[in-house]
Amino acid sequence: MTQDELKQAVARAAIDYVVDGEIIGVGTGSTANFFIDELAKIKDRIKGTVASSEATAARLRGHGIPVFDLNEVESIAVYIDGADEITEQGAMIKGGGAALTREKIVASVSKQFVCIADGSKLVDTLGKFPLPVEVIPMARAAVMRKLAALGGQPRLRTKAGGTEAFITDNGGEIIDVVGLTIADPVALESEIDGIVGVIAVGLFAQRGANVCLLGTADGVKTLT
Ligand code: A5P
Repeated sequence: MTQDELKQAVARAAIDYVVDGEIIGVGTGSTANFFIDELAKIKDRIKGTVASSEATAARLRGHGIPVFDLNEVESIAVYIDGADEITEQGAMIKGGGAALTREKIVASVSKQFVCIADGSKLVDTLGKFPLPVEVIPMARAAVMRKLAALGGQPRLRTKAGGTEAFITDNGGEIIDVVGLTIADPVALESEIDGIVGVIAVGLFAQRGANVCLLGTADGVKTLT
């Protein structure tokens, strides 16, 4: 099976976690896009969605699926999203698609987080994938110095093929931190979130996934 077929398989499996008549939180990225396409097939069963990025909102609306502003919504039944790395315990690195802050916000108000990922995302220890940190632009250099002091090599994310800083949906910039071995994801999440100028770190450990649907050659495996 190709990586896309594995992503499609977990996207299909995630439909079992959609709660009828409820609001569904929807993540960002290629796996989440497959999920959106599956969700479109059963869109009449749900009340609507909250999107974790402008790109996701546009894809949902393109399918005729209602998208609510989070401020209009009292509760979200389930949040479904991909990950860049995930451990058996449900701790994740996210933000390769730059949507980490909104993903974290939507996940934080959802009753359940279902992670959908192809098997290559499962790791014993987080940190091989560069850790994304969204920052207020004026704090970029100060935050980079603090991240370097934690043992990582911080790199400013730039627009494809250029040197200009990539700008997120929130007007922030992304620093990708290479070379961290994350032995204690909960502690590191708190430490980086506590640096002044950080909007959010792409470590999802304090609020990790409740369920992970992992696409493998032997079928979809469910980790809880
Ligand atoms: C988006 O900001 C990310 O958190 C994605 O969820 C993550 O990068 C996984 O993306 P893919 O599904 O494209 O691998």
